[in-house]
Amino acid sequence: MTTRRNPLRDPQDRRLPRIAGPCGMVLFGVTGDLSRKKVMPAVYDLANRGLLPPGFSLVGFARRDWADQDFAQIVHDSVREHARTEFREEVWRQLAEGVRFVPGDFADDVAFSTLRRTIEELDAARGTEGNHAFYLSIPPRFFGDVIEQLQEHGLAENREGTWRRVVVEKPFGHDLASARELNDILGRVFPSGSVFRIDHYLGKETVQNILAMRFANTMFEPIWNSNYVDHVQITMAEDIGIGGRAGYYDGIGAARDVIQNHLIQLMALIAMEEPTSFDAESLRQEKIKVLSSVTLPNRLDLSTARGQYVGGWAGGVPVPGYLEEEGIPADSTTETFAAVRLNVENRRWAGVPFYLRTGKRLGRRVTEVAVVFKRAPHLPFSAHSTEELTQNALVVRVQPDEGLTVRFGSKVPGTAMEIRDVNMDFAYGGTFTEASPEAYERLILDVLLGDPPLFPRHEEVELSWRILDPVLAHWARKGRPDEYASGTWGPASATAMMARDGRVWRRP
Ligand code: BG6
Repeated sequence: MTTRRNPLRDPQDRRLPRIAGPCGMVLFGVTGDLSRKKVMPAVYDLANRGLLPPGFSLVGFARRDWADQDFAQIVHDSVREHARTEFREEVWRQLAEGVRFVPGDFADDVAFSTLRRTIEELDAARGTEGNHAFYLSIPPRFFGDVIEQLQEHGLAENREGTWRRVVVEKPFGHDLASARELNDILGRVFPSGSVFRIDHYLGKETVQNILAMRFANTMFEPIWNSNYVDHVQITMAEDIGIGGRAGYYDGIGAARDVIQNHLIQLMALIAMEEPTSFDAESLRQEKIKVLSSVTLPNRLDLSTARGQYVGGWAGGVPVPGYLEEEGIPADSTTETFAAVRLNVENRRWAGVPFYLRTGKRLGRRVTEVAVVFKRAPHLPFSAHSTEELTQNALVVRVQPDEGLTVRFGSKVPGTAMEIRDVNMDFAYGGTFTEASPEAYERLILDVLLGDPPLFPRHEEVELSWRILDPVLAHWARKGRPDEYASGTWGPASATAMMARDGRVWRRP
């Protein structure tokens, strides 16, 4: 018997948008790139889509001599430049009425008292009802100060019927030890359900779709194991250099910037077992299980590669090398390309390597996960017929051309039996008329709704560092990374690393 859904009552009904209740957000680090390019525009886009409460407030906190209007102007300019939805004067006016600025230092008690007063005034004037998210888009060395100040000024307390949440941007530590320290600091002040760690890849539709693809269908799961899968390649390639982000990037490098978070999360979603449900706790349990099973090969010199870009070409124009970028020390050993081979020691994946790679100034911008299958055990064709047949693959195209590709062998029309690879594609653009929401919109809305499944928990973050720490230590002992020319696909050592395993990197 089928039960009919009541579209007015059933909260699963997708026509009923999820609108945040009365609340506000306090943004630390308002002058940073991320705030300007992602966070502020996402807040406006949410307001424009009608997903924020009418009295929503946005409070900026920074060491700047600004009045409310100055900060409102900054938000306005960032929205005009980076928002995805159309600029509408009436939406902006309503949002701007809730914009405030508190000038001050993270160590400044007076500033935090002012912040508290500002929030109380907003609660009274705009009806934010004591519900506030503190968004830390600041270098991690300041987390401790800010969190302590929030506690000392009574800003972190979840009083009866109200909520306080903290949103933490990466880098979440520099290694396992520092990540643990940060988690301790957060844990002393905020209950774990009030801490939202941002990994914006989890906010992407195509990444969420990995679980839909795996667990809403019958045809993928039976072959999703070492009987059929030869290896998995996860690539996040960027054509841009580090641009104006020298201060953030140098000393961090590609592995900490991207592999520790985005790529290991992608790997967990591909490799994990089916969760009992899609609540945060069930997802966390499965991700932790699989991340705990990850090991590194014994010879890190043979199964990792790292590089630094030198001058070359990007988009038809000459570009400088990493060491010539503004703000980079001439002797920097920071890697801008990193590749690692990881093993997953469980029944499903034993013997199936997961190769993760990322880099700046590569051939083009593309993120994908390719599950590459074993060759058919027997081919009843002449060797000549299958010369152009490679391995079957299922490719999750995370971006920019969002979709899925299945690669398989097909007969070339004609009188001979000639078989070569063909692709079967699903493209979001060709199937859905609605554009996917931007990751930051989705994640900020989830914070305001208190919906935690898309945020990595502290155990996941610590396990990722546990995986990566030995690689980082190995590289630190080796000195300079290898070189690769801008516009290519990384250093020769990355190609060699795959060749040793009898495999090749995909050229997406
Ligand atoms: C960030 C990294 O997390 O992701 C950046 O710090 C990188 O270095 C960015 O450029 C890429 O994000 P996206 O969504 O454009 O793939």
